[in-house]
Amino acid sequence: MVTQDQDLGTVALRWQGDSLALLDQRLLPAEEVWLTYQDADGVAGAIHDMVVRGAPAIGISAAYGVVLAAQRLTAGDDGWRVKLERALDRLAASRPTAVNLFWALERMNAVLATADTLGGACGALEAEAVLIHQEDIAANLTMGRLALTIMPEQPFAVLTHCNTGALATGGYGTALGVIRSLWRAGRLTRVYADETRPWLQGSRLTAWELAQDGIPVTLNADSAAAHILRQGEVQWVVVGADRITANGDVANKIGTYGLAVLARHHGVKFMVVAPSSTVDMSLASGNLIPIEERDGTEVRQVQGRPVAPADVAVFNPVFDVTPAALIDAIVTEKGVILNPGLEAMAACFN
Ligand code: MRU
Repeated sequence: MVTQDQDLGTVALRWQGDSLALLDQRLLPAEEVWLTYQDADGVAGAIHDMVVRGAPAIGISAAYGVVLAAQRLTAGDDGWRVKLERALDRLAASRPTAVNLFWALERMNAVLATADTLGGACGALEAEAVLIHQEDIAANLTMGRLALTIMPEQPFAVLTHCNTGALATGGYGTALGVIRSLWRAGRLTRVYADETRPWLQGSRLTAWELAQDGIPVTLNADSAAAHILRQGEVQWVVVGADRITANGDVANKIGTYGLAVLARHHGVKFMVVAPSSTVDMSLASGNLIPIEERDGTEVRQVQGRPVAPADVAVFNPVFDVTPAALIDAIVTEKGVILNPGLEAMAACFN
């Protein structure tokens, strides 16, 4: 059974003290299967294979992966520090785009650097991972509150892309958290959810999550977005992010950039919602963000069934970069940045 928390939505990640349980997001909504991981390599594999996905959830899982690596070592194990550093490297290699992964691992590495013994490291690393997890939930709740300060009072429809809910985070969600907050405030009529090819995070996860919480959702093919925005019902497009650079450019699920172009053309507002753990001030612009490309079978097949010639060439970038100029607001737990750019980002994050 899925853990259904009234306030946070369907949380897909459970720390069990000596193991990490993940709801297998590849199988939703057809099957609800929990998998248990007891070491860092298992967690790195779960991130790479999309058992767990969504930038904040990836970061939190990786942090727990470091704890598991420490717990698996034995007292008196010479070279425990080097072994843990290697585990950090393996976790870092799991996926390239969401900076939350590297942010979380840096925090864990800083804790590791101050530990004198393996026993001390175990306790301190677990405390840090739990803190990262709790901070993410708190950030989501804060962003839900902040976003509403710049949105209309009268109920309106939103369109979203990919999945940014409890499944993608420690709980509640980023863009989907804002959607939850709008719904609870009586200011939302309907959510249009892009299906989000090729992984179908929108249809398999977002539509499922919203339906579970009784929030009115209409699923649409990605290619229907222009038509929907033209009809005038949608006032805001609300999406998450995998990395936000110093000039306010945003990497998010492939298709987000096109949606931002469409929103601007139709006079629809475009909001990005992400915790500060998604902000990478070390990169000057989105051109520098490593964009993950995944295997062509993800496009040639749908749920294992062929939908294209078996040997057709495929280009499968799974993220794109939306230029800051197309974004009306970036909402983080540190505040709302209107018309993001270099100066506004620096004022908030330097
Ligand atoms: O490939 P995924 O499913 O990990 O991609 C997820 C997204 O692009 C989300 O929009 C982003 O990580 C934000 S999740 C709160």
